Amino acid sequence: MEIKKQTSLRGEMEVPGDKSISHRAVMFGSLADGTTRITHFLNGADCLSTISCFRKMGIRIENTKEEVLVHGKGLYGLCAPEDVLDVGNSGTTTRLISGILSGQNFVSELNGDASIQTRPMKRIITPLLSMGADIKSIRGNDCAPLRISGHPLSAVHHTSPVASAQVKSCVLLAGMYADGITSVTEPVLSRNHTEIMLNYFGADVTSRGTTASIAPGPILRAREIHVPGDISSAAYFIAAGLLTPGSEILIKNVGINPTRDGILRVLRDMGADITLMNVCADGEPTADLLVRFSTLHGTAIGGEIIPALIDEIPMLAVIAAFAEGTTVIRDAQELKVKESNRIEVMVNNLKRMGADIEATEDGMIIRGGAPLHGALIDSHMDHRVAMSFAVAGTICDGTMDILGAECVNISYPDFYRDLYALGQ
Ligand code: S3P
Repeated sequence: MEIKKQTSLRGEMEVPGDKSISHRAVMFGSLADGTTRITHFLNGADCLSTISCFRKMGIRIENTKEEVLVHGKGLYGLCAPEDVLDVGNSGTTTRLISGILSGQNFVSELNGDASIQTRPMKRIITPLLSMGADIKSIRGNDCAPLRISGHPLSAVHHTSPVASAQVKSCVLLAGMYADGITSVTEPVLSRNHTEIMLNYFGADVTSRGTTASIAPGPILRAREIHVPGDISSAAYFIAAGLLTPGSEILIKNVGINPTRDGILRVLRDMGADITLMNVCADGEPTADLLVRFSTLHGTAIGGEIIPALIDEIPMLAVIAAFAEGTTVIRDAQELKVKESNRIEVMVNNLKRMGADIEATEDGMIIRGGAPLHGALIDSHMDHRVAMSFAVAGTICDGTMDILGAECVNISYPDFYRDLYALGQ
């Protein structure tokens, strides 16, 4: 797909619902008693995979344009699926559902696309085995497909070597089916949507520093959930507004949970003019973001902030290439095991645009300011790569052509429509 250059962006917009929160709303709604109503749900392919898995386990889920209604059947209400649960491209579906399936009284199999079959599952298999779960990688390579024979579990304290909300959530969800308090400690706090939402549904989850604990056997009650706009999707428009001369855009109702707002902190540090308006701090905090064209400079990104911006690093790498001076990204080796190897894929594609960039073991070094031009970009079917280069294509000269551009469907089906909607 060829991307068109834009002169300036002006006006207001809203981005689709948060992907992490949409997944969790369907999962926890399925395990609650009663009907959970979800508005501003993300109807992207990943969240639809979650819906399809729970439908296969006997949960009635109505999905209209306005709302999703999940007719939950309680903690023990799932039925054995008749065929393989298809998780598509979704790591969140795979890892969170594995925790739930480990505590059921039936056998299930999970599988997904080529990318999901290469993503590391040992990080959940190890803690689940320690809880007494019967889970195995069918091909013996610690990846999907997975086979899980559910049964009651033992409570454990798991120390995770990676800061991963998917691992933390998997263990906490399995902990609902355990015989005591289950806890997880991670090296750095990762996104805490599971802890917030499980408590909202009536579970007893406590958080102390980087440790989260859950009491077993909660009675979850159906709730109303309005999903905030996804800051990871807003990131593309924040970038477009900052980098396109003459722009001023207002992105309304964006989730700004402090475990997710690293992009805002880093961009401000790079000189970005971003103002938070209408901040609402109830539950999952939200705000409207006013973004104005800014002159940006390089920065250092590493350490504790990484989990709070891990999904925004592809976009940040592009921004850094347009900024003046050097940006160094460290401690981000997790990028290698996302939907694609995002260090390699971003560096190779940015080089094609003329950027001065090199990959490192745990990140990249970008010497900004080199003249950038359109190029043939291979998205490797990674939605965040495709969207990052689409934004780059609206700013630079020359033809920007993205292979596999349709993969934005995973998290933002109307991305290209929205990308051109604010142009003058
Ligand atoms: C997610 C957690 C993160 C993130 C992913 C969504 C979640 O992954 O990259 O896009 O919803 O819990 P990790 O837990 O693997 O870091």
